[in-house]
Amino acid sequence: MRYTVAHFKALRDSGDKIVMLTCYDASFAALCDEAGVECLLVGDSLGMVVQGHESTLPVTMDEMEYHVRCVARGSKQALIIGDLPFGSYQASHEQAYVNASRLIAAGAQAVKLEGGRVMLDTVRFVVERGIPVCGHVGLTPQSVHQLGGYRVQGKSDEAARAVLDDARAIERAGAAMIVIEAIPAALARDVTQALTIPTIGIGAGKECSGQVLVLYDMLDLYPGRKARFVKNFMAGAESVKDAIRRYVAAVKAGTFPGPEHAF
Ligand code: KIV
Repeated sequence: MRYTVAHFKALRDSGDKIVMLTCYDASFAALCDEAGVECLLVGDSLGMVVQGHESTLPVTMDEMEYHVRCVARGSKQALIIGDLPFGSYQASHEQAYVNASRLIAAGAQAVKLEGGRVMLDTVRFVVERGIPVCGHVGLTPQSVHQLGGYRVQGKSDEAARAVLDDARAIERAGAAMIVIEAIPAALARDVTQALTIPTIGIGAGKECSGQVLVLYDMLDLYPGRKARFVKNFMAGAESVKDAIRRYVAAVKAGTFPGPEHAF
């Protein structure tokens, strides 16, 4: 049976950690299922780690649909979240719904979109029409040009308040969970305590409701620069499945991320 967003809320409420990993194809999806990954994010990070682009910005809806279909064929158990790519949801609520419904029809059970307060009405529009939404605040890679690079967000008091306000807005809009990326661990803890929906951290310290990493980063497959928050789980592992199992076990035990992976 496949996990639902209600399952993740129950895990969060009981203090059990949620394990998410990005995934882009059927073979890895099956391996992730067998290794115990509970949530597969078909992330637009595929633009960098699969397609070789310098950013996630060139990824199209057609490509996202294709990868969601591949992952849905390989996975039987994990909740699949399809990432709405750059330019596919910002123009109007209707555009967001139409493209979210394409990812759901392709096999996802929820969609993710980037942005905080500015996305409140869009998230509400999509959720009210029956599609679970995962928000994404902090470092939002689709805004890389506006942010001036892939930088840690929320460092000043004012910036921290902005991240907290963004997260609260996404919860108010009805999102089922929220990714918080590259923010100080203390701020991620405050965001997690302020919300009642699960927070999924990446570069946000260990006090989030769960963790996500990019699959190709944690398997050390991606040749590009590694962020501080990435751990190579292939080191010392017997196989890819073993590496993913170690990631699942470390997130569940609260031993990943360590202080060396946090800001
Ligand atoms: O696209 C992606 O893989 C993501 C994760 C890094 C959270 O958004």
